[in-house]
Amino acid sequence: MPAGTWLCWASLLLLAEPSQPCPKGCDCFAHEVFCSDERLTAIPLDIPPDTTDIVFVETSFTEVEPGAFSGSPNLTKLIFLSTPLQSFRPGAFAGLRQLRDLEVTGSTFNLSGDTFANLTSLVQLTLSFDELDTLPEGLFLGLDILESLQLQGNQLQTLPLGIFRPLRSLRSLNLEQNRLARLPAGLLDPLSGLRFLKLSDNKLSQGLPQGVFATLGSLEELFLDNNGLRELSPELLSGLFRLERLWLQHNAISHLPPSVFSDLGSLTALSLQGNALRTLPAGLFAHSPHLLSLSLSHNQLVTVEEGAFTNLSSLTFLTLSHNAIVQLPAGVFRDLRKLVKLYLGSNNLTALPVSLLHNLSNLELLSLSRNQLSTLPKGLLRANYNLFNLALHGNPWQCDCHLAWLSSWLRIWSDQLLHTRTYCAGPAHLRGHVVPTLKEEDLVCPASGYPRLDPRVAGRGWGPGVQDKGAPSRCTYRNAEGSVVLACDETHCRWLNVQLSPRQGEGFLAMTYNSSQGWDLRSSCGSVRVTVSIGNLAAEP
Ligand SMILES: *[C@@H]1O[C@H](CO)[C@@H](O)[C@H](O)[C@H]1NC(C)=O
Ligand SMILES: *[C@@H]1O[C@H](CO)[C@@H](O)[C@H](O)[C@H]1NC(C)=O
Ligand SMILES: *[C@@H]1O[C@H](CO)[C@@H](O)[C@H](O)[C@H]1NC(C)=O
Ligand SMILES: *[C@@H]1O[C@H](CO)[C@@H](O)[C@H](O)[C@H]1NC(C)=O
Ligand SMILES: *[C@@H]1O[C@H](CO)[C@@H](O)[C@H](O)[C@H]1NC(C)=O
Ligand SMILES: *[C@@H]1O[C@H](CO)[C@@H](O)[C@H](O)[C@H]1NC(C)=O
Ligand SMILES: *[C@@H]1O[C@H](CO)[C@@H](O)[C@H](O)[C@H]1NC(C)=O
Repeated sequence: MPAGTWLCWASLLLLAEPSQPCPKGCDCFAHEVFCSDERLTAIPLDIPPDTTDIVFVETSFTEVEPGAFSGSPNLTKLIFLSTPLQSFRPGAFAGLRQLRDLEVTGSTFNLSGDTFANLTSLVQLTLSFDELDTLPEGLFLGLDILESLQLQGNQLQTLPLGIFRPLRSLRSLNLEQNRLARLPAGLLDPLSGLRFLKLSDNKLSQGLPQGVFATLGSLEELFLDNNGLRELSPELLSGLFRLERLWLQHNAISHLPPSVFSDLGSLTALSLQGNALRTLPAGLFAHSPHLLSLSLSHNQLVTVEEGAFTNLSSLTFLTLSHNAIVQLPAGVFRDLRKLVKLYLGSNNLTALPVSLLHNLSNLELLSLSRNQLSTLPKGLLRANYNLFNLALHGNPWQCDCHLAWLSSWLRIWSDQLLHTRTYCAGPAHLRGHVVPTLKEEDLVCPASGYPRLDPRVAGRGWGPGVQDKGAPSRCTYRNAEGSVVLACDETHCRWLNVQLSPRQGEGFLAMTYNSSQGWDLRSSCGSVRVTVSIGNLAAEP
């Protein structure tokens, strides 16, 4: 046989030899084994000894026998997903001294106190959606270096007082979506290194005892949303100096003690959305100057106190939408110099103070939609150089001379497409028109009552004269030399008519002098400077 043929056979033999035995029903990759065959009715006996990670998905075995993994001493990660596992027999994890990560999700199984005993290398333990209703006392004994414990989506109603005592290294604890109605006082005391605590979607309405978080000085994020909480005790959050994110949304909190957040100097995000708050105490957030995001939407706020947002000089996001706010104090946003987005939509605002937004030079988005605003004061947006997104729809806009500035602001500074639903509610002939499409000459004011003479310029004998009762579109100013009658057209007061009438008994031509007088006229359509000069031309010969 020629040498060439030999070589060829040798390489075929090499190819045919299985590089690693892999259990039937599983796939093996380097040191990882992935088993997702429903015909797998027991843990395979032939798992490669150098395996570090095993994942079982939708397999059919219901028990893990003692020593099932004793042939894989280097196992660090073991995961069971949606398997019908019912029990871990005593010693099921024997020999797994390297196991760092154990997850059982979507099974229904019974735990005994020593199920995890001897897993002293465990760093992460996940028992989620397993229908667990109790945890045996002592379950976590020996898990000294456990950092993450995930118990999401079970049916836990309470927890044994000492259950977390061994977990001195724990950083993350997730108890969300359980049925916890109360936490025993002292339950969390051993967890002084905890950074993340999730208690969302439980029933803790009455169940947060005094001082329950008192020792969690390292906590960075706390979830208490969806618990039916009606109030927070003044001391509940005391000592949480490192807390950065606090989630209190979707509870039933109707009032907040003024000092409840006063230790939260590191807070950057706070949600109180979906509660029943009616007022905000002044200075409530004053000790959290690093707050970036604050949500107060979907509450029952009718007013907001002048000092409610004191000190929030880092805040970039604020929502007060979906409340019942009728008015806002002029200085309420004065400290919010970094604010970028401000949501005031779906309230009951009827007017805004002209200086409301004057310190908000970083504002990019302002929503005023769905309020009761009929106009906005000229100068409102004077300082908001970065504003480009302004939502105004769902208000009864009165399209008259007061709104002319806004209509032109919208045409110049805003995207027209944002305003296709910003309609006029009045006057009648403009109802249904889109505000930024109106021309300046459409936006005029009806005269309402008499224009008033500015007292500061009413001098030298000129002053409000006898007003013709029953003729509201006219007003008369009189001085020693004669009368000036201003006639304001009912709908177009800027078409100002000036009529000079001679004094009783004297002819107009009797005037033998020159006179000039000016004054500011303030009427429903703004201020007008009116100057009247009377000249006496030499009579023709
Ligand atoms: C376990 O890991 C160690 C260190 O990497 C290695 O020396 C040993 O051979 C491994 N054991 C098995 C059964 O693969
Ligand atoms: C779990 O424990 C309960 C009560 O102790 C028992 O009724 C049930 O049969 C157990 N289930 C399994 C799968 O062992
Ligand atoms: C823990 O280890 C000890 C000694 O190695 C052994 O006797 C005991 O059975 C183990 N417990 C479990 C639950 O595996
Ligand atoms: C605002 O924050 C400073 C510290 O940043 C603090 O000294 C001051 O008391 C706070 N203001 C109020 C009203 O609490
Ligand atoms: C807004 O104010 C009106 C008049 O005061 C009142 O009838 C209405 O209920 C208020 N709407 C809301 C959402 O509070
Ligand atoms: C703007 O901020 C300054 C300094 O905090 C304050 O004195 C002023 O009243 C604020 N202006 C408005 C309109 O809020
Ligand atoms: C009034 O002004 C006109 C034009 O300036 C002048 O011709 C006339 O003499 C003046 N009459 C009186 C009474 O000052």
